[in-house]
Amino acid sequence: MIRFGIDAMLLALISLAFVAGAAADRTPEAPPAAVDAVDALRKQLGAALRGAIEEEGPIAAIDVCRDKAPQITKALQNEGVAVGRTSHRLRNPDNAPMPWMKPLLEELRDSTAAPGRFRVVDLGEAGTGYVEAIYLQPLCATCHGSNIAPALHDEIRARYPDDRATGFEPGEFRGLFWAVVPKPAS
Ligand code: HEC
Repeated sequence: MIRFGIDAMLLALISLAFVAGAAADRTPEAPPAAVDAVDALRKQLGAALRGAIEEEGPIAAIDVCRDKAPQITKALQNEGVAVGRTSHRLRNPDNAPMPWMKPLLEELRDSTAAPGRFRVVDLGEAGTGYVEAIYLQPLCATCHGSNIAPALHDEIRARYPDDRATGFEPGEFRGLFWAVVPKPAS
């Protein structure tokens, strides 16, 4: 079990092992600021999505997803914390993974749904990277599943001509929430 107070050098080596894709099921402790930022993004986005679908229907909710997601991520960026979403199969190319996220997408893409599956990566001077796996829920299949209503699918294709984020089954790995936070001053 890896705990706080571990030699920083060892921590960096373990993180590098993750980046290299080495099989490992242990991960350093998640930085609380990163966990908080991702929690806030997940909750606010989920509430906005559910509210919009219930009140205005899924077609109007596309705009909520497109406009609200960047607004929420921007509002959560403070004190050097950055947060967002990415995927191995993107709808919006603006959400493309940064290089350090790619091995984690590879590693987790065949994983089965488990609550709070996360990874921590040492990004050197850039800080600490944190990712949390996202798995498809039944609601998400409305816009990311294999049986999207034709009118809704047309709207999605019109806004996202290069959409690769359909055909997901509930429980399938959909992508990552990510956060980058500064390292504690030492
Ligand atoms: C109303 C339709 C709709 C629903 C329902 C929906 N999404 Fe999306 N999703 C979108 C749209 C539109 C985007 C592109 C947003 C943007 O432009 O940044 C997107 C983007 C994403 C992304 C960012 C990566 C990418 O492909 O661009 C993830 C991850 C994601 N959705 C996961 C989910 C999950 C998980 C759920 C269920 C909790 C969900 N979505 C429900 C429409 C939807």
